[in-house]
Amino acid sequence: MTKVITYGTYDLFHYGHQRLLERAKELGDYLIVGVTADDFDKQRGKINVKQSLMERIESVRATGLADEIIIEEYEGQKIDDIKRYDVDVFTVGSDWVGYFDYLKDYCDVVYLERTKGVSSTEIRSKNQSISLGLVGGGNILKKYYNESEFVNGIDVDLVFINNENEKDFYQNENLMLAESYDELLNVVDAVVIASHPSKHYMQIKKALNRGKHVLCESPFALHEDECSELEHLAIDNNLILMDSIKTAYSTAYYRLLLLIKGGNIGDVYSIDATCTSLREVKDNSWNSITFWGPTALLPIFQILGVDYKNKTINSLMLEDKNNFDLFTKIDFRYDNAVASIKVANSVKSEGELIISGSKGYAYVPAPWWKTDYFELRYENLEENKKYFYQLDGEGIRYELVAFIKSIELGKNNSYVSFNVSKAICKIMEDFENNDLNIIKKH
Ligand code: CTP
Repeated sequence: MTKVITYGTYDLFHYGHQRLLERAKELGDYLIVGVTADDFDKQRGKINVKQSLMERIESVRATGLADEIIIEEYEGQKIDDIKRYDVDVFTVGSDWVGYFDYLKDYCDVVYLERTKGVSSTEIRSKNQSISLGLVGGGNILKKYYNESEFVNGIDVDLVFINNENEKDFYQNENLMLAESYDELLNVVDAVVIASHPSKHYMQIKKALNRGKHVLCESPFALHEDECSELEHLAIDNNLILMDSIKTAYSTAYYRLLLLIKGGNIGDVYSIDATCTSLREVKDNSWNSITFWGPTALLPIFQILGVDYKNKTINSLMLEDKNNFDLFTKIDFRYDNAVASIKVANSVKSEGELIISGSKGYAYVPAPWWKTDYFELRYENLEENKKYFYQLDGEGIRYELVAFIKSIELGKNNSYVSFNVSKAICKIMEDFENNDLNIIKKH
């Protein structure tokens, strides 16, 4: 019996896929089709795959051509599969000519003529794009623009910036600048907000009231009840409201969460997260707690939950600027655990994340918020494990994909739940009202 194997994503199954599978089947008696896992596609840079792995497998199954369907999950798996399934022929379309010649040491390699004029990419881009408006300023807004270029299904149509000096960047990209926020809302379907945190609440509210979907830099608001109000407004109007904390979308961070929740370091007793950077303090600067707080709080609230017993906030405040902290440390007490964050825009420290458990601990080196790597460490050093994952666009790219998918499906796919968003807003509120432990700097 001649066994044939072929691999692909098979997104939005089309005639080209059908023809390839038919010809692959004719090369032997038994056809194995490898369908790429979502994570593996991300690693290969295919981030806009529209259908889930299950849907894509179903399309292949429906052809009746595959005798066996397997999932391709990692680089180098093809050699393993060829050996494991005792494969005689490996085949793919001619878009890959030469690329898989290294497999000739293991079996025959056949490149089949690619069917002209059809591809998943083309079908994806023909589906109507979502018109996106960018609001705010700074490097973060530019990053959203740059990353949007990698994501199918969105067009940045208008930008409303709060700083005249940044005009050139967008004009050089041939983007239209809106005169006002209202003008922008007239044109677009969805907005990405990266303005000063004091403006978030009003800008989100306005967008939702005008029927626009929103992806906003965290925190949504500086008060907990405002956050709840926004949540209800979004739900009542069937709109997507997503809290933007890019770290939540980093594959390494997400995997770390799953491993911790799966008990790989036992019960978690302590989490320490530090995020610092040295930044010039300007008029429109974000203070340390709004700039770094949401990111530093993320692992604490996602792992230990939001029902802490109490907390202490200590800040080093700038004397002549209202509510401007140069450095803040918050200590949390839970029923069975403790946690702390250190955040600063004017103090430098080691930006690491350490999660301590009863069996071992997780160590994420600086800068942990944009890491592609972490370790699980144990008493017995031989058990230590290192994990590496690709990180594209600091997570922003995947975040935009999640936003677009949520809009298309009409279902919030955010990696940050409203509970967590609300707990973050509560911290912002308590920080504002905190009159304990404040050290003024002259
Ligand atoms: N294929 C083909 N003819 C086409 C499109 C795809 O023969 N017009 C083949 C590919 O060469 C591959 C298999 O079908 O062997 C699965 O391809 P896949 O990458 O899933 O599909 P594409 O349409 O090429 O997807 P994309 O546009 O995302 O690259």
